[in-house]
Amino acid sequence: MPYKLKDRNVLVTGGSRGLGAEISRRFAAEGCNIAINYANNESPAKDLAKEIESSYHVKTLIVKGDCGVMADCRNCIHETIKAFGSIEGIVGNAGWTKFTNFNDLDAMTEEEWDKCYAVNVKGMHALAKEALPTFNKNAEGGFFIITSSIAAKSLGGSSMAYSVTKAAQVHLMKCLAKVCGEKARINAVLPGLLLTDWGNLYGPERIAGLKDAAALKKETELGDCADAYIMLAKNTSITGQNIHVDSGLAIQHL
Ligand SMILES: NC(=O)c1ccc[n+]([C@@H]2O[C@H](COP(=O)([O-])OP(=O)(O)OC[C@H]3O[C@@H](n4cnc5c(N)ncnc54)[C@H](OP(=O)(O)O)[C@@H]3O)[C@@H](O)[C@H]2O)c1
Repeated sequence: MPYKLKDRNVLVTGGSRGLGAEISRRFAAEGCNIAINYANNESPAKDLAKEIESSYHVKTLIVKGDCGVMADCRNCIHETIKAFGSIEGIVGNAGWTKFTNFNDLDAMTEEEWDKCYAVNVKGMHALAKEALPTFNKNAEGGFFIITSSIAAKSLGGSSMAYSVTKAAQVHLMKCLAKVCGEKARINAVLPGLLLTDWGNLYGPERIAGLKDAAALKKETELGDCADAYIMLAKNTSITGQNIHVDSGLAIQHL
């Protein structure tokens, strides 16, 4: 039986811009109330909340918090439950990198490696841990979908720390799916190049190269990527899996 999304309460971390904003819209279009987390810029979060409420007639909540700070992750879950009464879905979409030379072992400081690990790995653990008691109480459980990256599977991307922590994130996702029990479906989506503010930091030359390297000779379309989250949220038989939505970028490097 597919899981119905209407009237579910979903938290999207890093939900105010880029891929997270598209995911927020897609879940709202399915009838979900959306808690939009952001870290620094309130106005895109406010604009998106207004757009979603008027387009889809669902409730929204804006939650400020740095997903590299465990107390903030826990607070995102608490605030969602306080505002909507429960939580049935989490999209762990916030991520962190610093665009550096992948081959340079000095490219990031120890503090930057720690930040990368905190946002991309530890924060996901904190979100799952905090929501699990509620998922276990929900009649139909809950879902946790992590935004990973093809950098988790290939030896490249914006930085070595990013690639390493996104790989750890996929492993964490599988561990959580194994241990969190029958009420929690936990999966990851691995996008290729997305032309968001983040993806555009690659610059025109690298972007052209990444499009050319993909089997489909294009970037990953945001809408196609967001659709994968909806599919995973509805499917009650998939857990512990990672789905590539990358225009065939990863298969060129396997
Ligand atoms: N772009 C790509 O090519 C690409 C490819 C593969 C995977 N991804 C993954 O996709 C996810 C989203 O990337 P994007 O391209 O959509 O980025 P984006 O356009 O730069 O949007 C980033 C979003 O995350 C929020 N954010 C940033 N740092 C945060 C933190 N520490 N805690 C909570 N929220 C935070 C931002 O809020 P503020 O505006 O308040 O900072 C904003 O809502 C990331 O996990 C990234 O690793 C991206």
